Amino acid sequence: MSKTAILEIDGKKYEFPIIVGTENEVAIDIEKLRGATGAITLDPGYKNSGSCKSEITFLDGEEGILRYRGYSIEDLADKADFLEVAYLLIFGELPNKAQLDKFETDIRKHTLVNEEMKTILEGFPKTAHPMGVLSSLTSALTAFNPKSVNVENEKELYEAICKTMGKFLVIATWTYRRRMGFPLNYYDNTKGYVENFMRLMFEIPTEPYKMDKRIVDALDKLFILHADHEQNCSTSTVRIVGSSHAGLFASISAGVSALWGPLHGGANQAVLEMLEEIHNNGGDVAKFVLKAKDKEDPFRLMGFGHRVYKNFDPRATIIKKAADDVLEALGVDDPLLDIAKQLEKVALEDEYFKSRNLYPNVDFYSGIIYRAMGIPVEMFTVLFAIGRLPGWIAQWKEMRLNKEPIGRPRQVYTGSTLRPFKEVNQR
Ligand code: CMC
Repeated sequence: MSKTAILEIDGKKYEFPIIVGTENEVAIDIEKLRGATGAITLDPGYKNSGSCKSEITFLDGEEGILRYRGYSIEDLADKADFLEVAYLLIFGELPNKAQLDKFETDIRKHTLVNEEMKTILEGFPKTAHPMGVLSSLTSALTAFNPKSVNVENEKELYEAICKTMGKFLVIATWTYRRRMGFPLNYYDNTKGYVENFMRLMFEIPTEPYKMDKRIVDALDKLFILHADHEQNCSTSTVRIVGSSHAGLFASISAGVSALWGPLHGGANQAVLEMLEEIHNNGGDVAKFVLKAKDKEDPFRLMGFGHRVYKNFDPRATIIKKAADDVLEALGVDDPLLDIAKQLEKVALEDEYFKSRNLYPNVDFYSGIIYRAMGIPVEMFTVLFAIGRLPGWIAQWKEMRLNKEPIGRPRQVYTGSTLRPFKEVNQR
C-alpha cells in the first residue's frame, strides 16, 4: 500500500498521507486539504468520513465483526457482565476482581439523585415520552453538579464517570415511574446494577418484588450488545457536543436526543409498533414488504438495514438466540414473534432486500425480548440508552483526553449570492 494519495485539481497535484488502522482500514488524511488546495470534501451523512482515530470499538460491516477493545462481542456477551464491559470500554482493559468491585462500589456512592430533581420530573405531563424526559433530566443533572470536570485530573474524571453511571440509571427508570404514577424508587446498594434496573422499574411498596434471574441475565446481555458501536449518530453527537468542552451530563443528554430518532435507537420501539400493526391488519406480512419496497411509500421495514453492516449484524444473531431462549424460559407464546420470523424470511429471500444488503439489525429482535420481560414499549429506547451509556462515556473521555479540536464541519454554500436589501414596503 502506498503511503500517500495523490489528488489532482486543475492540473495541480497534491499529496496526502495515508493512514492505516490496526485492523488495516485505510484513510486518506485530509487535515491539510483546505489549506493546500482551497477545496473541502463533501460527504453528506459522513458515509466516507472518519471523524477521529479511536481505540475503543472495531466494527467490520462487510464481515459482520464487532469488538470492544479487541474482545469479540460474542465472547463478551457470553462471558462478561455489563459493568465489566462498561469498565473495559471506559478504561481500556478488562478489570480484575478488585478493580471491578471498586468500580461497582464507587458507582454506588453516586446512586442517590438530588430530591429537587423530582420537582423537575413532576413538571412533565405524564404522557411525555420517556426519552424526552430522560434527555431533559440528564441535562438537569448539570444544575446539581455545576463544576465542569477537569479531565486532566484522574480522580475528578473517575468520579464524574461513576456519578454518570449511577445517576443515569436511576433517572432513566424514574421516567417510567412517573408515567405510571408509581412512587419513585431509590437504588438499593446491596444489589447489582442490572438487578437494580428491574427493581427501580417494577418494585412497588405494597408487595415484595421477586427478581427473575433469567430476565436479569438476558437484560445484562442486551446492555452489553448495545454498549458501544463506534461513531454512530448518538456517539458522534456526544463527541461533538463534548468537543466544545460542554460537560459530561450535557453531552450525554444530547446523545439521548440523537438516539431517540426512529432511524437510530428509536427503531426498537418502531419495530414493535410495526409488528403490532401487521398483526392488527390480519398478519399479512407480504403486504408490508411490498409497501417497504414501494418508492412512492415512505414506509420502511423497521429493524432492517444498517449504515455499516452490509452482511449481517452480529448483535442481531446473538439477540435472536437470546429472544428464543427468553421466550421459551418464560413460556411466552408471542404472535408478534411469529410475524417477526415470517418478515425476516420474506425479506431475506426478496431481491429488493438482498440487492441492498438489508438484514435484520439489533433492534429487530430486542423489542420482542423487552416485551416478553414486561417492559413497556415506550421504554425500549431508554433501555438502549442505558446500554449505550458506557460507550458514550468512553468516547467522550477519549475525545477529551486526545485533546481533539472542536467539531465544526464545513459546507458548500448553494444559496443566493449577494443581493441588495429591499425595505419592507418594496418587497
Ligand atoms: N426498508 C426498506 N428499504 C430500505 C430500508 C428499510 N428498512 N433501509 C434502507 N432501505 C433502502 C433505501 O430506500 C435505499 O434504497 P435505494 O437505493 O433504492 O434508494 C437503500 O436501501 C439504501 O438505504 P439508505 O437509506 O441509503 O441507507 P443508510 O445507510 O443511509 O440508512 C438506516 C441506514 C439504518 C437508517 C436504514 O436502513 C433504515 O432506515 N432502517 C430502518 C430503521 C432502523 O432499523 N434503524 C436501526 C438501525 S440499527 C440500530 C442503531 O445502531 O441505531
